[in-house]
Amino acid sequence: MKKATAIAPSNIAFTKYWGRKDNILRLPTNGSISMTLSDLLTTTTVEFSPDYQKDQVTINGGGIEEGEAKRVIKHLDRVRNLSGINFKAKVVSKNNFPAGTGLASSASGFAALTLAATAAAGLNLSEKDLSILARQGSGSACRSILSGFVEWLDRNTSQTSYAVQIFPPDWWDIADVVAIFTEEKKDVSSNVGHKAAQTSPFFKTRIVRMKEKNRKFKEFIKERNFDKFGQLLEQEALEFHAITLTQTPYLIYWTPGTLTTMKLTRVWRNEGLEVYFTVDTGQNIHLFVEGKNIKKLVSELKKLDGIKNIIVNTPGEGTRLSGNHLF
Ligand code: DP6
Repeated sequence: MKKATAIAPSNIAFTKYWGRKDNILRLPTNGSISMTLSDLLTTTTVEFSPDYQKDQVTINGGGIEEGEAKRVIKHLDRVRNLSGINFKAKVVSKNNFPAGTGLASSASGFAALTLAATAAAGLNLSEKDLSILARQGSGSACRSILSGFVEWLDRNTSQTSYAVQIFPPDWWDIADVVAIFTEEKKDVSSNVGHKAAQTSPFFKTRIVRMKEKNRKFKEFIKERNFDKFGQLLEQEALEFHAITLTQTPYLIYWTPGTLTTMKLTRVWRNEGLEVYFTVDTGQNIHLFVEGKNIKKLVSELKKLDGIKNIIVNTPGEGTRLSGNHLF
């Protein structure tokens, strides 16, 4: 049987996918817009073979938790169903970023697994079909299939819920600079968080605002209006965290390092460095600047107490095949 390897990027959501209208199919309550990241990558090799007695999964040289393994095997089953192949698989995967920083994103992981497994099974899926399939493994993975600026459409069925490119990577010279303070793993998976989102008294209020927010993001990206884009980016991040903080059980993702940097963002802006933040379900903070300000921001970040790592991402390429197999 053929062996296939895929490289997939992580992505950062400008408008967050949080809460679902169907938990099994992973259909989100709202559409979302993201940027594919150039420098946070997962590489995965898959081989189906009659020689394998069971599915075996290795990530960064080690095993994975039972829950995670089940999710991967379920995804391999989806590919087996589509292709008619019954063989077990060997899956080896590695990230280009340090393990345990909370960046081990399911988005790049499931996007890479989707392309590698379908190619190994002899399928040649379109971007749309890859996005639909990746979504079922991890919602945000459907956006990592595409390059540049991406929209996950707000639709009601599995076959229509996928992501499309809205602008190519070279449309806008901006960067997402990720500041890493601690290397702790987050304690609650986003899967659990999504299911409880509706328990927040503010969830409905959030949802009615999302269509307009997505429309505005597309307009500001089209106009390359960094100031308006950045203000909306922060507003949306804070509204999203208002949900996680008020759902039951509540989820607090920020650490002191996250908060210090959020507050500093405004100080830096007052001093003339135009920078805006967003934060996902982890302690790492994503700082957006125009290309001309990357160096200045990085030098400010290096001065901070406890900063462990800084990763600069530009709008990146989507999921692609590679000839460099991991086994
Ligand atoms: C806050 O895609 O990780 O990053 O579908 O359960 O795998 P699952 O959830 P996941 O959720 C991402 C949540 C988010 C926002 C976003 O990326 O849109």
